[in-house]
Amino acid sequence: MMKWSPNSWRNKPIQQVPAYPDPAVLADVEGRMATYPPLVFAGEARKLKKQLAAVANGEAFLLQGGDCAESFAEHGADNIRDFFRVFLQMAVVLTYAGAQPVVKIGRIAGQFAKPRSSDTESKDGVTLPSYRGDIINGIDFTEASRLPDPNRQEMAYRQSAATLNLLRAFAQGGYANLENVHKWMVGFLADSPQAERYRAIADRISETMDFMRAIGINAESHPSLRETDFYTSHEALLLGYEEALTRIDSTSGDWYATSGHMIWIGDRTRQPDHAHVEYCRGVKNPIGLKCGPSLDPDTLLTLLDILNPQNEAGRITLIARFGAEKVGEHLPKLVRAVEREGRKVVWSCDPMHGNTISLNSYKTRPFDRILSEVQSFFDVHHAEGTHPGGIHIEMTGKNVTECTGGARAISAEDLQDRYHTHCDPRLNADQALELAFLVAELMKKSSAGKPRQQVAAAL
Ligand code: TRP
Ligand code: MN
Repeated sequence: MMKWSPNSWRNKPIQQVPAYPDPAVLADVEGRMATYPPLVFAGEARKLKKQLAAVANGEAFLLQGGDCAESFAEHGADNIRDFFRVFLQMAVVLTYAGAQPVVKIGRIAGQFAKPRSSDTESKDGVTLPSYRGDIINGIDFTEASRLPDPNRQEMAYRQSAATLNLLRAFAQGGYANLENVHKWMVGFLADSPQAERYRAIADRISETMDFMRAIGINAESHPSLRETDFYTSHEALLLGYEEALTRIDSTSGDWYATSGHMIWIGDRTRQPDHAHVEYCRGVKNPIGLKCGPSLDPDTLLTLLDILNPQNEAGRITLIARFGAEKVGEHLPKLVRAVEREGRKVVWSCDPMHGNTISLNSYKTRPFDRILSEVQSFFDVHHAEGTHPGGIHIEMTGKNVTECTGGARAISAEDLQDRYHTHCDPRLNADQALELAFLVAELMKKSSAGKPRQQVAAAL
Protein backbone atom coordinates (compact mmCIF):
# COMPACT_ATOMS: atom_id res chain seq x y z
CA MET A 1 0.00 0.00 0.00
CA MET A 2 1.20 3.52 -0.79
CA LYS A 3 2.41 5.76 1.98
CA TRP A 4 -0.40 7.65 3.68
CA SER A 5 -0.43 11.40 4.25
CA PRO A 6 -3.28 13.77 5.12
CA ASN A 7 -3.57 14.62 1.41
CA SER A 8 -2.92 11.21 -0.17
CA TRP A 9 -6.68 10.93 -0.79
CA ARG A 10 -6.18 13.55 -3.51
CA ASN A 11 -4.62 10.92 -5.79
CA LYS A 12 -7.64 8.62 -5.61
CA PRO A 13 -10.97 8.55 -7.42
CA ILE A 14 -13.58 10.41 -5.42
CA GLN A 15 -17.38 10.71 -5.25
CA GLN A 16 -19.59 13.54 -4.01
CA VAL A 17 -17.26 16.47 -4.74
CA PRO A 18 -18.74 19.97 -4.84
CA ALA A 19 -18.00 22.03 -7.97
CA TYR A 20 -16.30 25.01 -6.32
CA PRO A 21 -16.15 27.84 -8.85
CA ASP A 22 -12.69 29.08 -7.82
CA PRO A 23 -10.06 26.55 -6.69
CA ALA A 24 -7.76 29.36 -5.53
CA VAL A 25 -10.31 30.62 -3.00
CA LEU A 26 -10.87 27.06 -1.80
CA ALA A 27 -7.12 26.48 -1.33
CA ASP A 28 -6.86 29.76 0.53
CA VAL A 29 -9.61 28.82 3.01
CA GLU A 30 -8.18 25.33 3.54
CA GLY A 31 -4.73 26.79 4.12
CA ARG A 32 -6.08 29.16 6.74
CA MET A 33 -8.04 26.46 8.52
CA ALA A 34 -4.94 24.32 8.73
CA THR A 35 -3.55 26.92 11.14
CA TYR A 36 -6.62 26.95 13.43
CA PRO A 37 -6.79 25.13 16.77
CA PRO A 38 -8.06 21.55 16.66
CA LEU A 39 -11.67 21.06 17.77
CA VAL A 40 -10.94 17.91 19.73
CA PHE A 41 -7.87 16.52 21.43
CA ALA A 42 -6.29 13.22 20.39
CA GLY A 43 -6.41 11.92 23.98
CA GLU A 44 -10.21 12.21 23.88
CA ALA A 45 -10.42 10.19 20.68
CA ARG A 46 -8.23 7.53 22.32
CA LYS A 47 -10.49 7.45 25.36
CA LEU A 48 -13.52 7.03 23.12
CA LYS A 49 -11.77 4.19 21.29
CA LYS A 50 -11.25 2.41 24.62
CA GLN A 51 -14.92 2.81 25.47
CA LEU A 52 -15.90 1.48 22.04
CA ALA A 53 -13.57 -1.47 22.59
CA ALA A 54 -15.76 -2.31 25.60
CA VAL A 55 -18.77 -2.23 23.27
CA ALA A 56 -16.99 -4.53 20.81
CA ASN A 57 -16.35 -6.91 23.72
CA GLY A 58 -20.02 -6.97 24.66
CA GLU A 59 -19.53 -4.95 27.84
CA ALA A 60 -21.12 -1.64 26.88
CA PHE A 61 -23.71 -0.15 24.52
CA LEU A 62 -23.34 2.66 22.00
CA LEU A 63 -25.87 5.47 21.62
CA GLN A 64 -25.13 7.71 18.65
CA GLY A 65 -27.58 10.32 17.45
CA GLY A 66 -28.37 13.81 16.33
CA ASP A 67 -29.42 15.81 13.31
CA CYS A 68 -29.25 14.43 9.82
CA ALA A 69 -27.62 17.74 8.94
CA GLU A 70 -26.79 20.64 11.24
CA SER A 71 -27.60 24.07 9.85
CA PHE A 72 -26.28 27.59 10.25
CA ALA A 73 -29.81 28.93 10.67
CA GLU A 74 -30.57 26.77 13.70
CA HIS A 75 -27.51 27.31 15.80
CA GLY A 76 -29.18 28.30 19.06
CA ALA A 77 -28.44 27.28 22.63
CA ASP A 78 -32.01 25.97 22.98
CA ASN A 79 -31.57 23.53 20.14
CA ILE A 80 -28.38 22.13 21.56
CA ARG A 81 -29.82 21.96 25.07
CA ASP A 82 -33.05 20.28 23.99
CA PHE A 83 -31.15 17.70 21.96
CA PHE A 84 -28.78 16.95 24.84
CA ARG A 85 -31.65 16.68 27.29
CA VAL A 86 -33.43 13.99 25.29
CA PHE A 87 -30.21 12.22 24.45
CA LEU A 88 -29.23 11.93 28.12
CA GLN A 89 -32.64 10.58 29.05
CA MET A 90 -32.27 7.92 26.38
CA ALA A 91 -28.84 7.10 27.76
CA VAL A 92 -30.17 6.62 31.30
CA VAL A 93 -32.92 4.29 30.14
CA LEU A 94 -30.47 2.23 28.08
CA THR A 95 -27.85 2.14 30.83
CA TYR A 96 -30.39 0.81 33.26
CA ALA A 97 -31.96 -1.72 30.91
CA GLY A 98 -28.67 -3.10 29.64
CA ALA A 99 -26.94 -2.86 33.02
CA GLN A 100 -23.95 -1.66 31.02
CA PRO A 101 -22.27 1.69 30.46
CA VAL A 102 -23.63 3.62 27.48
CA VAL A 103 -21.07 5.29 25.22
CA LYS A 104 -22.57 8.61 24.17
CA ILE A 105 -21.77 10.07 20.77
CA GLY A 106 -23.66 12.93 19.11
CA ARG A 107 -24.05 13.49 15.39
CA ILE A 108 -23.20 17.05 16.21
CA ALA A 109 -20.56 19.80 16.17
CA GLY A 110 -19.47 18.96 12.62
CA GLN A 111 -22.32 17.12 10.87
CA PHE A 112 -22.68 19.56 7.98
CA ALA A 113 -21.86 17.81 4.69
CA LYS A 114 -24.42 15.65 2.88
CA PRO A 115 -23.94 13.10 0.09
CA ARG A 116 -26.59 13.44 -2.63
CA SER A 117 -27.99 10.92 -5.08
CA SER A 118 -27.95 13.52 -7.87
CA ASP A 119 -25.61 16.45 -8.57
CA THR A 120 -28.54 18.62 -9.59
CA GLU A 121 -32.11 19.29 -8.57
CA SER A 122 -34.88 20.48 -10.91
CA LYS A 123 -37.97 22.45 -9.97
CA ASP A 124 -40.49 24.01 -12.37
CA GLY A 125 -38.10 23.64 -15.30
CA VAL A 126 -35.13 25.17 -13.44
CA THR A 127 -32.07 23.00 -12.74
CA LEU A 128 -29.57 23.96 -10.04
CA PRO A 129 -26.80 22.19 -8.12
CA SER A 130 -28.14 19.99 -5.30
CA TYR A 131 -27.93 21.21 -1.71
CA ARG A 132 -24.91 19.48 -0.13
CA GLY A 133 -25.12 20.76 3.41
CA ASP A 134 -24.45 24.18 4.95
CA ILE A 135 -20.70 23.62 4.91
CA ILE A 136 -20.89 23.68 1.08
CA ASN A 137 -23.89 25.64 -0.19
CA GLY A 138 -27.28 27.04 0.85
CA ILE A 139 -30.60 25.20 0.91
CA ASP A 140 -32.59 27.98 -0.84
CA PHE A 141 -33.42 27.10 -4.40
CA THR A 142 -31.61 30.02 -6.05
CA GLU A 143 -28.52 30.09 -8.20
CA ALA A 144 -26.57 32.23 -5.72
CA SER A 145 -27.42 30.06 -2.75
CA ARG A 146 -26.62 26.76 -4.47
CA LEU A 147 -23.18 27.90 -5.64
CA PRO A 148 -20.58 26.12 -3.44
CA ASP A 149 -18.80 28.68 -1.25
CA PRO A 150 -15.50 27.69 0.44
CA ASN A 151 -15.95 30.34 3.14
CA ARG A 152 -18.79 28.26 4.54
CA GLN A 153 -16.16 25.84 5.84
CA GLU A 154 -14.91 28.47 8.27
CA MET A 155 -18.47 29.09 9.41
CA ALA A 156 -18.93 25.37 10.01
CA TYR A 157 -15.67 25.20 11.93
CA ARG A 158 -16.66 28.12 14.18
CA GLN A 159 -20.16 26.79 14.74
CA SER A 160 -18.73 23.39 15.63
CA ALA A 161 -16.37 25.02 18.14
CA ALA A 162 -19.22 26.91 19.82
CA THR A 163 -21.48 23.87 19.89
CA LEU A 164 -18.76 21.70 21.33
CA ASN A 165 -18.01 24.32 23.95
CA LEU A 166 -21.60 24.30 25.19
CA LEU A 167 -21.78 20.52 25.12
CA ARG A 168 -18.63 20.25 27.19
CA ALA A 169 -20.11 22.68 29.70
CA PHE A 170 -23.34 20.70 29.88
CA ALA A 171 -21.57 17.34 30.18
CA GLN A 172 -19.13 18.44 32.88
CA GLY A 173 -20.76 21.46 34.53
CA GLY A 174 -23.72 19.88 36.32
CA TYR A 175 -26.47 19.87 33.70
CA ALA A 176 -25.94 16.15 33.04
CA ASN A 177 -26.50 15.32 36.71
CA LEU A 178 -28.27 11.97 36.88
CA GLU A 179 -30.84 13.42 39.31
CA ASN A 180 -31.82 16.06 36.75
CA VAL A 181 -32.01 13.58 33.93
CA HIS A 182 -34.14 11.27 36.02
CA LYS A 183 -36.56 14.11 36.82
CA TRP A 184 -36.94 14.95 33.12
CA MET A 185 -37.68 11.32 32.39
CA VAL A 186 -40.40 11.22 35.05
CA GLY A 187 -41.87 14.38 33.49
CA PHE A 188 -41.88 12.79 30.06
CA LEU A 189 -43.72 9.75 31.38
CA ALA A 190 -46.37 11.85 33.12
CA ASP A 191 -47.43 13.16 29.68
CA SER A 192 -46.88 10.06 27.59
CA PRO A 193 -49.84 8.11 26.22
CA GLN A 194 -47.64 5.02 26.62
CA ALA A 195 -46.80 5.77 30.28
CA GLU A 196 -48.21 2.47 31.50
CA ARG A 197 -46.01 0.45 29.22
CA TYR A 198 -42.80 2.20 30.33
CA ARG A 199 -43.72 2.58 33.99
CA ALA A 200 -42.05 -0.64 35.14
CA ILE A 201 -38.60 0.41 33.92
CA ALA A 202 -39.07 4.01 35.04
CA ASP A 203 -40.18 3.00 38.54
CA ARG A 204 -37.20 0.76 38.97
CA ILE A 205 -34.86 3.54 37.93
CA SER A 206 -36.59 5.81 40.49
CA GLU A 207 -36.20 3.19 43.22
CA THR A 208 -32.55 2.74 42.37
CA MET A 209 -32.00 6.50 42.61
CA ASP A 210 -33.75 6.58 46.01
CA PHE A 211 -31.66 3.68 47.23
CA MET A 212 -28.41 5.28 46.14
CA ARG A 213 -29.38 8.55 47.80
CA ALA A 214 -30.27 6.69 51.00
CA ILE A 215 -26.85 5.09 51.28
CA GLY A 216 -25.03 8.36 50.59
CA ILE A 217 -24.21 7.95 46.91
CA ASN A 218 -25.07 11.35 45.54
CA ALA A 219 -23.80 13.93 43.08
CA GLU A 220 -21.82 15.79 45.75
CA SER A 221 -19.98 12.71 46.94
CA HIS A 222 -19.67 11.04 43.52
CA PRO A 223 -18.68 13.21 40.53
CA SER A 224 -19.57 10.36 38.15
CA LEU A 225 -23.23 10.99 38.98
CA ARG A 226 -23.08 14.59 37.82
CA GLU A 227 -20.72 14.27 34.86
CA THR A 228 -20.70 12.27 31.70
CA ASP A 229 -18.42 11.70 28.72
CA PHE A 230 -20.00 12.99 25.57
CA TYR A 231 -18.32 12.69 22.17
CA THR A 232 -18.90 14.21 18.74
CA SER A 233 -19.06 12.60 15.32
CA HIS A 234 -19.90 13.35 11.71
CA GLU A 235 -19.56 11.88 8.24
CA ALA A 236 -16.06 12.61 6.90
CA LEU A 237 -17.38 13.61 3.49
CA LEU A 238 -15.72 16.93 2.68
CA LEU A 239 -12.13 15.77 2.67
CA GLY A 240 -10.48 19.16 2.12
CA TYR A 241 -12.02 20.30 5.41
CA GLU A 242 -10.95 17.08 7.15
CA GLU A 243 -7.42 17.38 5.78
CA ALA A 244 -7.11 20.95 7.06
CA LEU A 245 -8.00 19.74 10.55
CA THR A 246 -5.76 16.66 10.50
CA ARG A 247 -2.96 17.02 13.05
CA ILE A 248 -0.11 15.04 14.53
CA ASP A 249 -0.66 14.23 18.18
CA SER A 250 2.52 15.22 19.96
CA THR A 251 2.12 12.53 22.65
CA SER A 252 1.90 9.55 20.30
CA GLY A 253 3.26 10.95 17.03
CA ASP A 254 0.09 9.68 15.30
CA TRP A 255 -2.23 11.53 12.95
CA TYR A 256 -5.72 12.37 14.17
CA ALA A 257 -8.77 13.95 12.58
CA THR A 258 -9.44 16.79 15.00
CA SER A 259 -12.77 17.86 13.46
CA GLY A 260 -14.60 15.47 15.82
CA HIS A 261 -13.92 12.46 18.02
CA MET A 262 -15.32 9.87 15.64
CA ILE A 263 -15.83 10.13 11.90
CA TRP A 264 -17.66 7.78 9.61
CA ILE A 265 -17.61 6.76 5.98
CA GLY A 266 -20.95 6.90 4.18
CA ASP A 267 -22.57 4.07 2.25
CA ARG A 268 -21.98 5.95 -1.03
CA THR A 269 -18.28 6.67 -0.50
CA ARG A 270 -16.91 3.42 0.90
CA GLN A 271 -15.20 2.07 -2.27
CA PRO A 272 -11.99 0.43 -0.94
CA ASP A 273 -9.70 2.12 -3.51
CA HIS A 274 -11.31 5.56 -3.34
CA ALA A 275 -10.51 8.78 -1.52
CA HIS A 276 -12.72 8.55 1.58
CA VAL A 277 -11.36 5.19 2.65
CA GLU A 278 -7.83 6.41 1.90
CA TYR A 279 -8.25 9.44 4.17
CA CYS A 280 -9.78 7.47 7.04
CA ARG A 281 -7.22 4.68 7.06
CA GLY A 282 -4.47 7.08 8.12
CA VAL A 283 -6.07 8.79 11.12
CA LYS A 284 -6.23 6.99 14.45
CA ASN A 285 -9.74 8.05 15.48
CA PRO A 286 -12.57 5.59 15.90
CA ILE A 287 -14.06 5.10 12.44
CA GLY A 288 -17.64 4.27 11.53
CA LEU A 289 -18.56 2.47 8.33
CA LYS A 290 -22.11 2.57 6.99
CA CYS A 291 -23.17 -0.84 5.71
CA GLY A 292 -26.07 -0.88 3.23
CA PRO A 293 -27.58 -3.63 1.06
CA SER A 294 -24.91 -3.27 -1.66
CA LEU A 295 -22.04 -4.21 0.69
CA ASP A 296 -20.96 -7.83 0.23
CA PRO A 297 -19.03 -9.77 2.90
CA ASP A 298 -15.77 -9.88 0.89
CA THR A 299 -15.71 -6.13 0.35
CA LEU A 300 -16.42 -5.63 4.02
CA LEU A 301 -13.42 -7.80 4.93
CA THR A 302 -11.26 -5.87 2.44
CA LEU A 303 -12.35 -2.63 4.06
CA LEU A 304 -11.54 -3.97 7.52
CA ASP A 305 -8.07 -4.99 6.26
CA ILE A 306 -7.46 -1.45 5.02
CA LEU A 307 -9.01 0.46 7.88
CA ASN A 308 -8.05 -1.77 10.78
CA PRO A 309 -5.03 -3.89 9.85
CA GLN A 310 -4.13 -4.48 13.51
CA ASN A 311 -7.69 -5.64 14.30
CA GLU A 312 -7.85 -3.19 17.17
CA ALA A 313 -11.15 -3.33 19.13
CA GLY A 314 -12.90 0.06 19.22
CA ARG A 315 -11.40 1.24 15.94
CA ILE A 316 -14.33 0.18 13.73
CA THR A 317 -18.05 0.59 14.24
CA LEU A 318 -20.14 -1.07 11.55
CA ILE A 319 -23.36 0.87 11.18
CA ALA A 320 -25.96 -1.38 9.56
CA ARG A 321 -28.62 0.52 7.57
CA PHE A 322 -30.53 -1.98 5.51
CA GLY A 323 -34.20 -1.17 6.02
CA ALA A 324 -36.70 -3.12 8.07
CA GLU A 325 -37.43 -5.60 5.28
CA LYS A 326 -33.82 -6.23 4.27
CA VAL A 327 -31.91 -6.44 7.52
CA GLY A 328 -32.84 -10.09 8.11
CA GLU A 329 -31.42 -11.03 4.71
CA HIS A 330 -28.24 -8.94 4.65
CA LEU A 331 -26.99 -8.58 8.21
CA PRO A 332 -26.39 -12.29 9.02
CA LYS A 333 -24.01 -12.66 6.04
CA LEU A 334 -21.88 -9.77 7.23
CA VAL A 335 -21.95 -10.84 10.87
CA ARG A 336 -20.88 -14.38 9.92
CA ALA A 337 -18.00 -13.17 7.77
CA VAL A 338 -16.76 -10.89 10.54
CA GLU A 339 -17.06 -13.66 13.14
CA ARG A 340 -15.43 -16.27 10.90
CA GLU A 341 -12.40 -14.00 10.39
CA GLY A 342 -12.27 -13.04 14.05
CA ARG A 343 -12.57 -9.30 13.40
CA LYS A 344 -13.31 -7.09 16.37
CA VAL A 345 -16.04 -4.60 15.57
CA VAL A 346 -18.90 -2.74 17.15
CA TRP A 347 -22.22 -3.58 15.51
CA SER A 348 -24.57 -0.63 15.52
CA CYS A 349 -28.04 -0.32 13.99
CA ASP A 350 -29.05 2.72 11.95
CA PRO A 351 -32.80 2.12 11.57
CA MET A 352 -33.34 5.46 9.81
CA HIS A 353 -31.71 5.47 6.39
CA GLY A 354 -33.16 2.25 4.99
CA ASN A 355 -36.69 3.22 5.98
CA THR A 356 -37.33 6.48 4.16
CA ILE A 357 -40.53 6.74 2.13
CA SER A 358 -42.38 9.52 0.36
CA LEU A 359 -45.79 10.57 1.70
CA ASN A 360 -47.82 13.61 0.59
CA SER A 361 -44.59 14.72 -1.13
CA TYR A 362 -42.72 14.68 2.21
CA LYS A 363 -39.78 12.40 2.86
CA THR A 364 -40.74 10.55 6.01
CA ARG A 365 -40.00 7.43 8.06
CA PRO A 366 -42.70 5.40 9.79
CA PHE A 367 -41.87 4.83 13.46
CA ASP A 368 -43.03 1.19 13.17
CA ARG A 369 -40.49 0.44 10.50
CA ILE A 370 -37.71 2.07 12.49
CA LEU A 371 -38.60 -0.06 15.48
CA SER A 372 -38.95 -3.14 13.32
CA GLU A 373 -35.41 -2.72 11.95
CA VAL A 374 -34.01 -2.40 15.49
CA GLN A 375 -35.92 -5.48 16.55
CA SER A 376 -34.62 -7.54 13.61
CA PHE A 377 -31.10 -6.28 14.34
CA PHE A 378 -31.39 -7.61 17.90
CA ASP A 379 -32.89 -10.88 16.62
CA VAL A 380 -30.02 -11.43 14.18
CA HIS A 381 -27.39 -10.83 16.85
CA HIS A 382 -29.24 -13.05 19.25
CA ALA A 383 -29.31 -15.85 16.68
CA GLU A 384 -25.62 -15.40 15.78
CA GLY A 385 -24.48 -15.11 19.38
CA THR A 386 -23.01 -11.64 18.79
CA HIS A 387 -23.50 -8.38 20.67
CA PRO A 388 -26.11 -5.92 19.36
CA GLY A 389 -23.76 -3.09 20.24
CA GLY A 390 -25.65 0.10 19.63
CA ILE A 391 -28.04 2.32 17.75
CA HIS A 392 -27.40 5.26 15.44
CA ILE A 393 -30.36 7.56 14.95
CA GLU A 394 -31.41 10.89 13.46
CA MET A 395 -33.24 12.85 16.13
CA THR A 396 -33.89 16.30 17.52
CA GLY A 397 -34.94 17.61 20.93
CA LYS A 398 -37.71 19.61 19.29
CA ASN A 399 -41.31 18.67 18.79
CA VAL A 400 -41.09 18.34 14.99
CA THR A 401 -43.42 16.32 12.75
CA GLU A 402 -41.06 14.55 10.36
CA CYS A 403 -41.44 10.81 11.10
CA THR A 404 -44.93 9.32 11.21
CA GLY A 405 -46.27 7.23 14.10
CA GLY A 406 -45.14 6.94 17.69
CA ALA A 407 -47.25 7.01 20.84
CA ARG A 408 -48.58 10.47 19.99
CA ALA A 409 -49.26 9.24 16.48
CA ILE A 410 -48.13 11.64 13.81
CA SER A 411 -50.21 11.13 10.67
CA ALA A 412 -49.43 11.82 7.03
CA GLU A 413 -51.47 15.04 7.32
CA ASP A 414 -49.51 16.19 10.38
CA LEU A 415 -46.21 16.19 8.49
CA GLN A 416 -46.78 19.70 7.16
CA ASP A 417 -47.13 21.20 10.67
CA ARG A 418 -43.52 21.28 11.85
CA TYR A 419 -41.40 19.73 9.13
CA HIS A 420 -38.12 21.57 9.69
CA THR A 421 -35.30 19.25 8.70
CA HIS A 422 -32.63 20.40 6.27
CA CYS A 423 -32.25 16.89 5.02
CA ASP A 424 -33.73 13.61 6.29
CA PRO A 425 -36.72 13.25 8.67
CA ARG A 426 -35.71 12.97 12.33
CA LEU A 427 -37.37 11.42 15.38
CA ASN A 428 -38.82 14.16 17.56
CA ALA A 429 -38.15 14.31 21.32
CA ASP A 430 -41.05 12.01 22.27
CA GLN A 431 -40.34 9.50 19.53
CA ALA A 432 -36.64 9.36 20.40
CA LEU A 433 -37.26 8.68 24.06
CA GLU A 434 -39.98 6.23 23.23
CA LEU A 435 -37.53 4.36 21.00
CA ALA A 436 -35.10 4.18 23.94
CA PHE A 437 -37.79 2.56 26.11
CA LEU A 438 -38.59 0.07 23.36
CA VAL A 439 -34.91 -0.75 22.85
CA ALA A 440 -34.71 -1.17 26.63
CA GLU A 441 -37.40 -3.86 26.38
CA LEU A 442 -35.38 -5.63 23.69
CA MET A 443 -32.26 -5.46 25.85
CA LYS A 444 -34.08 -6.88 28.83
CA LYS A 445 -35.27 -9.72 26.65
CA SER A 446 -31.84 -10.52 25.26
CA SER A 447 -30.21 -10.42 28.72
CA ALA A 448 -32.98 -12.58 30.23
CA GLY A 449 -31.11 -15.80 29.45
CA LYS A 450 -27.76 -14.63 30.80
CA PRO A 451 -26.57 -15.68 34.26
CA ARG A 452 -27.31 -12.99 36.82
CA GLN A 453 -23.66 -12.40 37.84
CA GLN A 454 -22.70 -11.62 34.30
CA VAL A 455 -25.24 -8.82 34.18
CA ALA A 456 -24.29 -7.63 37.65
CA ALA A 457 -20.56 -7.62 36.89
CA ALA A 458 -21.06 -4.98 34.26
CA LEU A 459 -22.68 -2.53 36.65
N1 TRP B 1 -21.28 9.17 34.55
C1 TRP B 1 -22.21 8.10 34.30
C2 TRP B 1 -22.42 7.90 32.80
O1 TRP B 1 -22.13 8.78 32.04
C3 TRP B 1 -23.56 8.36 34.99
C4 TRP B 1 -24.31 9.54 34.47
C5 TRP B 1 -24.25 10.80 34.92
C6 TRP B 1 -25.24 9.52 33.39
N2 TRP B 1 -25.11 11.62 34.22
C7 TRP B 1 -25.72 10.85 33.27
C8 TRP B 1 -25.72 8.52 32.55
C9 TRP B 1 -26.66 11.18 32.28
C10 TRP B 1 -26.64 8.86 31.55
C11 TRP B 1 -27.10 10.17 31.45
O2 TRP B 1 -22.89 6.85 32.41
MN1 MN C 1 -29.53 11.33 6.98
